[in-house]
Amino acid sequence: MFLNIWTCSIICLLVAATIIGGVILLLLLLRVYIYLSTGVCKSKVSMKGKTVLITGCTSGIGRETARNLVKRGARLIMACRNVEAANKLKDELIKESDNQEIVVHKLDLSSLESVRDFVKQVNNEEKRLDVLIHNAGTAETFSKKISIDGIEMTMATNHYGPFLLTHLLIDLLKRSAPSRIVVVASSLYRLANLNLDNINPTMTFPAYLYYVSKYANIMFTLELARRLEGTGVTANCLHPGMIDSGIWRNVPAPLSWGLQVIVKSFFKTPEQGAQTSIQLAVSEHLKNTTGKYFSDCQESSLSSGVSDAAKCKKFWELSENIVKLQSTDPKI
Ligand SMILES: NC(=O)c1ccc[n+]([C@@H]2O[C@H](COP(=O)([O-])OP(=O)(O)OC[C@H]3O[C@@H](n4cnc5c(N)ncnc54)[C@H](OP(=O)(O)O)[C@@H]3O)[C@@H](O)[C@H]2O)c1
Ligand SMILES: *[C@@H]1O[C@H](CO)[C@@H](O)[C@H](O)[C@H]1NC(C)=O
Repeated sequence: MFLNIWTCSIICLLVAATIIGGVILLLLLLRVYIYLSTGVCKSKVSMKGKTVLITGCTSGIGRETARNLVKRGARLIMACRNVEAANKLKDELIKESDNQEIVVHKLDLSSLESVRDFVKQVNNEEKRLDVLIHNAGTAETFSKKISIDGIEMTMATNHYGPFLLTHLLIDLLKRSAPSRIVVVASSLYRLANLNLDNINPTMTFPAYLYYVSKYANIMFTLELARRLEGTGVTANCLHPGMIDSGIWRNVPAPLSWGLQVIVKSFFKTPEQGAQTSIQLAVSEHLKNTTGKYFSDCQESSLSSGVSDAAKCKKFWELSENIVKLQSTDPKI
C-alpha cells in the first residue's frame, strides 16, 4: 500500500514536471521564433536632403522610426498632439544625431480643424515632402468617445484625420516626386470588417472599432495607390508586429494585468516595431512599389475582403463626405 502511494506520487510528479517543462520549452521556442522572424531594415541609405513627416512620434513605434530617420540625416517634421513631449524628444534627437533639421508642429488627428491648421503651417514653411508616415493611432476599448466633429474617436484619429491630412498634403508630395506615403495598419484588421452602411459606428464590442480602423487604413492605402498611379507618389501599408508600446494603455484592469504579462513576455520592442515603417520609407528597392502590404520588412498577402477594389472606392467617396472635403481642397 505504502509503496503504491510512493510510486503514484513519483509518477504524478514526473508527469507534472514533464508538462511544466514542456510548456516552458514551448514558450522559449516561441520567443526564439519571434526573435528570429523579426524583420530588420538592412538598408543603409542616407536620407540627407529629404523631408519626412511623421505623425504621433512621441512614443512607441513612431519615436523609434523618427530616431532612425534623423540618424539618416532626414529633415523631420514631427506632427504631434503633445507638443511639450515632442519638443523634449526633439532635443534628445538633436543631441544624439547632431542633425538640427527637426521641427515640431501641433497636430490632433481627431480634429479636422487641427489637421487644416497643421497643414497650413507645413505648406507655408516646407519646400518639399518626400515621405509622409501615418503612424499615430489610438485604441479606445471600452469607452465610447466622440470627436469634436461628431466622429467616433478611434476612427476619427486612425482613419478620417489621416484621410484629410493626405488630401491637404498631396500637392506638396506630388511636387516632390518621387515621394512616398507609408500607412501603419495592423494584421488585427483580420478580426474586423467595415460596414459601408455604417461608416461612423459608435456602438460595437470593446476594441472592435480599433480593428475596423486598421481595416480602413488598408482600404485607404489600396485606393490611394490606385488614384496616385503615374504621379510618382507611392502608397504602402504595413503591420509593425505585436509591439510593447503605449497602444494598450486604454485596456482596463484587471484585463490589462494579464495583457501586460503577455506584452512583456512576447511582444517586440518599439525599435523592432519600427523596422517595416523605416524600410518602406527609405529602401531603394521599394522605390516603385505601391499598393502593397508589408510585415516584418517583407511583402505580405491581404484578405480578399479588404482588397475588394469596388468597396475601397466606395469607402473613399463616403470618407470624403465625412471629412467635409471642400471643392477648393485638392482632390486625389
Ligand atoms: N503596438 C502594436 O502592437 C501595434 C500593432 C499593430 C499596429 N500598431 C499601430 O502602430 C501605430 C503606432 O502605435 P504605437 O504602438 O507606437 O502606440 P503608442 O505608443 O500609443 O503611440 C501612438 C502615438 O500616436 C499619437 N496619437 C494618438 N492620438 C493622437 C491624435 N489624436 N493626434 C495625434 N497623435 C495622436 C500618440 O500621441 P500622444 O503621446 O499624444 O498620445 C503617440 O505618439 C498605430 O497606428 C497603431 O495602430 C501598433
Ligand atoms: C523603377 O522604375 C524606373 C522607371 O521605370 C526604373 O528605371 C527603375 O529601375 C525602377 N527601380 C526599381 C528599384 O525597381
